[in-house]
Amino acid sequence: MSNGGGDGIRIAPSVLSADLARLAEQVKQVLAGGADWLHVDVMDGRFVPNLTFGANMIAALRGLTDKPIDVHLMVVEPERYLESFAAAGASVFTFHPEATLHVQRLLAAARSKGMLAGLALNPGSPLQLAEEVVADLDLLLIMTVNPGFGGQTYVPASNDKIRRARELLAAHGSRAFLEVDGGITPHTIAAAHAAGADTFVAGNAIFTSGDPAREVRDLRRRCLVTV
Ligand code: DX5
Ligand code: ZN
Repeated sequence: MSNGGGDGIRIAPSVLSADLARLAEQVKQVLAGGADWLHVDVMDGRFVPNLTFGANMIAALRGLTDKPIDVHLMVVEPERYLESFAAAGASVFTFHPEATLHVQRLLAAARSKGMLAGLALNPGSPLQLAEEVVADLDLLLIMTVNPGFGGQTYVPASNDKIRRARELLAAHGSRAFLEVDGGITPHTIAAAHAAGADTFVAGNAIFTSGDPAREVRDLRRRCLVTV
């Protein structure tokens, strides 16, 4: 798995905010800007009030790049998609603990399919949900908005939660990626990075610009100038 550009930072553009009529072109643009992963938001209209993509989107992206495809499942019973997403070329399989009965089993199953196993926590979900399964985690995703839509405002309490998540991983000797998702912009990314996040999902900040490559570079630069 790529560890990004050598600076320990991964920028993961969310194709939720891309212009789907120009998906291939927009993917090329973010890759030219140094995007490390591509983030795919899978929503089922039940776990969140919105409906998006499935295995066919993962397969389409896999046809465009060898970079890791970071799949975020905002669906009930995420286990139903394990096989098909792995077969489509997903690299990271991240789900929410409230969406399934057997969290540890599904994390282990994701690894057994050759994917990284990720757990996502909503702003109101306690870090303790991750603590019980920390040994099974390759990635911990701290949601910095309530999931469902792109373009929302970063929840201010997130920085403290990121800091505590970083401490939790360190206390357990975990090398899991610490990812943040939602409201990441040039104005919020530096504080999230300073708090301990190392992997940054961004949708609107990248794709609503006329120059997505420049936006990816700018997000990375904003992290680096503060350290
Ligand atoms: C939110 C999704 C995010 C979304 C982020 O429910 O999980 O990945 O695409 O979009 P922005 O960066 O616009 O907040
Ligand atoms: Zn997401």
